[in-house]
Amino acid sequence: MTSVAIVTGASSGIGAATARRLAAEGFHVLAAARRTDRLAGLVKEIEAAGGTATAVACDVTSDESVAGLATAAQGAPGPVTLLVNNAGGARGLDPVESGAIGDWQWMYDVNVLGTLRVTQALLPALEASGAGTIVIVSSTAGFTVYEGGGGYAAAKHAQTAIAGTLRLELCGRPLRVIEIDPGMVRTDEFGLVRFDGDADKAAATYAGVPEPLVAEDVADCIAWCATRPHHVNVDRLVVRPLAQAAQHKVHRVGQ
Ligand SMILES: NC(=O)c1ccc[n+]([C@@H]2O[C@H](COP(=O)([O-])OP(=O)(O)OC[C@H]3O[C@@H](n4cnc5c(N)ncnc54)[C@H](OP(=O)(O)O)[C@@H]3O)[C@@H](O)[C@H]2O)c1
Repeated sequence: MTSVAIVTGASSGIGAATARRLAAEGFHVLAAARRTDRLAGLVKEIEAAGGTATAVACDVTSDESVAGLATAAQGAPGPVTLLVNNAGGARGLDPVESGAIGDWQWMYDVNVLGTLRVTQALLPALEASGAGTIVIVSSTAGFTVYEGGGGYAAAKHAQTAIAGTLRLELCGRPLRVIEIDPGMVRTDEFGLVRFDGDADKAAATYAGVPEPLVAEDVADCIAWCATRPHHVNVDRLVVRPLAQAAQHKVHRVGQ
């Protein structure tokens, strides 16, 4: 029977690439996000490539909406074996001194409480499958802070704390927890969301960086972890572009 994978934040970037990749690996994918037009396009793409997927409208900040995702999972054509908590992002690059409370609130709501809410809602189905996998897409900001990144790092540290705690609490049950920590990934929207639609500021993040990671690189890491035999638990996978040795050490050509 086809296994079902749920990917949140599947309407763009890493989530969309992960949905495509997991469908290619043979999963039926429930692609969840708020922008259903994007999801419909993604499902068509997946089907054209020979895979199967279902679009599910889901706002991870809403109990009701996430309950709808759990209902969709119950109606899916197979056991739910994989949840990829990917919905998230950054808002602002202000110092702690002047950071906007609203930005911090948004980052906490989507990255942290979104992961908590979706994981709680899907855990029974994942456990019932007998071999469940919970992936949490945190970040290198989940273990390193940087100037201007206080709110994002706080949220990603919290997601990392969820992953570690959950792994301890679920020990002995058929559920593994995998944390993926990407460094610099050039996706179309991450920077635009962070800089409130300012394309120049978003592009400056990657200026001169030879080959930042792309969404497909992270999807590849997620798919590799999720398709190991179930007794193999990759606790945490840190992946950066070659040009980024550390958060503060990025090789930029011509600079
Ligand atoms: N890009 C990077 O450099 C990088 C590095 C490390 C970690 N990450 C992490 O990787 C994940 C994906 O990032 P990305 O670069 O692919 O960014 P992205 O293209 O901006 O994707 C973010 C996704 O999250 C969804 N989302 C936002 N708010 C949501 C909500 N309330 N409910 C449901 N979905 C919501 C968005 O869909 P809708 O707007 O349609 O809902 C979108 O599909 C994030 O968790 C990010 O923090 C990114």
